[in-house]
Amino acid sequence: MTVDLTRHFANLADDASRSPFTAMLSQTIAQLPEIAELLASAPPEQQNPVLLLAALHEQVLAEPDCDLAAWYPSVTDAPRTGDITAALLAHCRAHASALRSTVATRHTQTNEVGRCGIVLPVLGMVAAEVGPVALVDVGTSAGLNLHLDRYSYDYAPGGRVGPASDVHLHITTEGDVPVPTEVPEVRARIGIDPAPVDPTDDTATRWLRACIWPDQHDRFERFDAALDIARRQPADVRRADAVGGIAAAVADAAVRAHPVVMNSWVLNYLSSADRRAYVDRLDTLGAAADLSWVFVESPAVTSGLPYPDHLRGRHGSTVQLVRWRDGVRRVDHLASCHPHGYWLHWAS
Ligand SMILES: C[S@@+](CC[C@H](N)C(=O)[O-])C[C@H]1O[C@@H](n2cnc3c(N)ncnc32)[C@H](O)[C@@H]1O
Repeated sequence: MTVDLTRHFANLADDASRSPFTAMLSQTIAQLPEIAELLASAPPEQQNPVLLLAALHEQVLAEPDCDLAAWYPSVTDAPRTGDITAALLAHCRAHASALRSTVATRHTQTNEVGRCGIVLPVLGMVAAEVGPVALVDVGTSAGLNLHLDRYSYDYAPGGRVGPASDVHLHITTEGDVPVPTEVPEVRARIGIDPAPVDPTDDTATRWLRACIWPDQHDRFERFDAALDIARRQPADVRRADAVGGIAAAVADAAVRAHPVVMNSWVLNYLSSADRRAYVDRLDTLGAAADLSWVFVESPAVTSGLPYPDHLRGRHGSTVQLVRWRDGVRRVDHLASCHPHGYWLHWAS
């Protein structure tokens, strides 16, 4: 078991090209079975090295004066460099029981605002057809992506769109991305999640922040700016799962405008049976009244999701739009994108 866990950390070190700090930390833990083994307290399907890294990160965010925090770029502008081994061992030995408890009970959870830059052009297509929209974000986390019309976007190429905002997103594009000239009018913002995060709860949002890699400053900036917006203008976020909550949410949204269901990086959390049940519910709802569904999901980690040709061999997510109009269902495989929205490649 221990050997496997150290190997997981070595693999993460190889994969973390966008976060040199995560690569360094993972490489160090790959040499320290005593630390890697803490992850054995997580349920087998949760034994992902990023979970232990998030647990450690949460501790240094909560105790920014602890010795280990001096290495973390998320805590200090002048992080220590050099060998972290001694500080890491001392910290993990002192906090082993808390770390075990965190990995045993928590899941990594994000709320990645960067994904709004992927959803916006698709929402623009829908709005051009139906007018104002009412959003239902399934797996909404803290509901930050329900405020996508309050963020500003810079598509390169493609141009700028959106109001002046403290949340600025930069998206590198390829292909004919239909960047809208203005953000769609959003008349309802309903989120559902079995574990919603209250944007006003500092302890709960600290876990979302801990799941961001410590040297990804742009992600912290947009996360904090989006949290401010969500705190000032709370969305209607409900504790419910995708299957149980979708019908009521769509019904409530439809009273306000054309309902658009969205989900990003959520379907891999559902069992195959629940994924089928969720899609069946959408089909039933769409058969009864017009509905749109945009999803940004990873075929690589979501069995049963169509794997469009333009994604094969690439580390990306697929962007698809499903429309039910007058009871007829149409599916468009529109694009592939970076999981955090850094690039968007429109399918020709
Ligand atoms: C990786 S996060 C993505 C959050 C958000 N959609 C985003 O793109 O930033 C996955 C979210 O799915 C939620 N989730 C897990 N199981 C779910 C279910 N059965 N139904 C709805 N949401 C679920 C989790 O609680 C978590 O907030």
